[in-house]
Formats: sequence, structure tokens, C-alpha cells
Amino acid sequence: MKILFIGSRLYDDIDWYVREKGIESVLTESNEEAINLDLPDQVFIVPRGMDGPKQVALMQHVDAIVPLIGIDPPLIDVAYMKEEIEREYDIPVVAANVKAVELTSNKINTKKFYNEIGVVTPQYQILNSPDELAIDFPVVLKQGEGQGGKDIMVAKSMEDVESYFDEFDQALCEEFIEGSEISIEVLGFKGEYVALPPIYKGETTIEGTHPLNKVKTGPCMVEGLDNNLVQHVAYQVARNLGSDGIFEMDFMYSAKRDQLYAIEVNTRPNGTRYLTTATCGVNSLCELVNMAIGEFSLADISDKLEYYYSTEIPIGDYEGPQPNEPVKSFEVNDFVVHGPKGYQRVTARANSKEELESLVDKLT
Ligand SMILES: Nc1ncnc2c1ncn2[C@@H]1O[C@H](COP(=O)(O)OP(=O)(O)O)[C@@H](O)[C@H]1O
Ligand SMILES: [Mg+2]
Repeated sequence: MKILFIGSRLYDDIDWYVREKGIESVLTESNEEAINLDLPDQVFIVPRGMDGPKQVALMQHVDAIVPLIGIDPPLIDVAYMKEEIEREYDIPVVAANVKAVELTSNKINTKKFYNEIGVVTPQYQILNSPDELAIDFPVVLKQGEGQGGKDIMVAKSMEDVESYFDEFDQALCEEFIEGSEISIEVLGFKGEYVALPPIYKGETTIEGTHPLNKVKTGPCMVEGLDNNLVQHVAYQVARNLGSDGIFEMDFMYSAKRDQLYAIEVNTRPNGTRYLTTATCGVNSLCELVNMAIGEFSLADISDKLEYYYSTEIPIGDYEGPQPNEPVKSFEVNDFVVHGPKGYQRVTARANSKEELESLVDKLT
């Protein structure tokens, strides 16, 4: 088996698995200074875009293509490439298709999609000027595109809205949901979907603190919220997107209203994955490889499911004990350190809450 991976930034997360499976690895990257270029069997530096990876895939006669792209902008080009390569050359490309990317890469399209399929999402309006505002304060102002909290403001007054419009001439305006933030990963391939256990990412704040900067835990244990409901809704959303790979979804739960709200979908590898793996033993990046080699199945996922208490803590620069090799694998570690220097996070797991607390003490 020979797989083309596109993008090197996440490759160290699965290098160990690719070797364990005896897969021949080819990788394309557009930045010759990028990390992890020493890991795959062969590396090709190509111009940005999908023409380079496509040429390499054909020239190298790979059996499948697995894009490892953790940011939004390239996803649409990847989606067009997927549809072309699968149609013309019958080589599987484990990634989201054009429809799924169009619906999820823009938050306004996602809201319309939720309404169409009957999934509850916070009340919203498209604002073209501050005086059109028809939702009570506080409101959340966003742009259609963006990730990691970019261009998001929780507005408490008309002055806030006006200052947002100094910078933008349109906004997606949402009611502010006071409650718990929840993420979940769904894996999908060839029409089969499985929703992994949801994780808890903290409470929303009026400052709009992004979950990237909060302590997270798995499995999700929010009073009044049934995890089966989260999994069921996430499964429905994924099925309606009808695409392959990873679907990471963000939800909010308001205890006051006893209502689950769908926020956004990311059709790519994402930051939730470490905590999902810690919690249930299933690693979404490894499953992308399994999809590529024809070893992905719902039965196999069920067999692998484990149950741990886990947590993820933003730590800056990690200085605790070193993990075992391979350092990114929970199969040989009860903790994994990830993220760039200065923004590192440690994800740890244990069989009980007490054991998890003492492990975290040891690590931090
Ligand atoms: N309607 C809302 N109510 C309360 N907080 C919100 C709302 N929308 C967004 N937020 C806060 O802003 C964060 C980022 O919003 P999100 O829509 O997920 O954009 P991004 O793509 O930047 O992650 C959320 O995780 C949450 O903390
Ligand atoms: Mg988000």
C-alpha cells in the first residue's frame, strides 16, 4: 500500500501508525521549511494548490490520498481535486466533497443548512448595518469565514456593534447562548457514519473566550444533557453532508432552556482529536489512514471503544516527564503533548477522576 499525504504539519501525529501498518508514505508540502519533512519515505515540495499533489499521486501510482490539512482555506481546492481524481482515476481521496465544504466553510451557509435539515441553531440575522439589529443584547458578531475565534465579538451594546462595523460592513449576528460548549467528532466513509463520544470545552463567557484557551474534559458530563442526543444530532448532520473523512462539530447546551444548539462543522482534522482519542481510544487521523487502506468499519470502531476520564490543559511550554515513543500515541502513553512551542497543550487520561488528578499534578 502506498499513500500520498498532503501537508506535513500534522504528519508526526500518524507517522508511527503509517509505519506500524507497513504503508509506503509519499508526502507533498508547499513549504520547504515545514516541520516533519524527515519522516515520510518520500517528500515532494510542490507549489501551493492541488495540481502538484495530483501530479505526484499519478506519477507515484499511489493507492489512496489522505489530505492532512488543518486549516479551512485549502479545503475547497482539495474537494474539487477529490471529485476529479475519484471520477477520472478511481483513486480514493479521504476528504470532504465540494457540497460538504461549501456548506461548512462558511458560517452563514451552515446556519441555512441547519435550518433546512431541522437542526436547532442559535437565532441569527445577517446585519448590513448596526441599525438593522433585531436580537436582544448580548449578541455574537461573526464573519462567514474564520476559525480560532478570529473576527468574533460578543457585543453588549450598540456602541460595540458600531465599533465592529468600523472594521466590517456585514456581520452574522447570533443570540448569545449562556451555557456549555461541546465538541464531537464524527467519522464517515462511503455512506457509513459513526459519532464518537462528545467532549466538554467549558462554559461560554461574555468575553467570548475561545475554547482553545480553556481546560477541556472527556467524556462530556453536563448536567441535564444526554450525550446520546449530541451523538444523534451530530450523526444526522454528518449524514446530510454525505461526505468522507472527519466531521468535527461544535454545539452549545443551555441548561436554562434545556436546548442543544448546533454552532459549526469543520470537515478536517481539528483540535478535538487528542481529547477524543484520550477518552475513547479511537484516533481520527489513524481512521483516515484506515479509510484509505480499506480497513475502516463501524464494527472495528465499536471493538476499539474504550472508556477513560481525560482532560486537556493549555500549558505554554511543557516541562514535565517525557512520553514514551511514539510520543503521539495513546497506545503507549497516558498523556500526549501537542501544539507549537509557547502554545503547547497536554492531553491526559486515566481510569478514574482521582487517578487523572494525580497524573495531571505530575505533568503540570
Ligand atoms: N452564539 C454564541 N453564544 C455564546 N458564545 C458564542 C456564540 N458563538 C460563538 N461563541 C463563542 O465564540 C467561540 C468561537 O465561535 P465559533 O462560531 O465556533 O467560531 P470559530 O470558527 O472561530 O471557532 C465559541 O467557541 C464560543 O466560545
Ligand atoms: Mg469554533
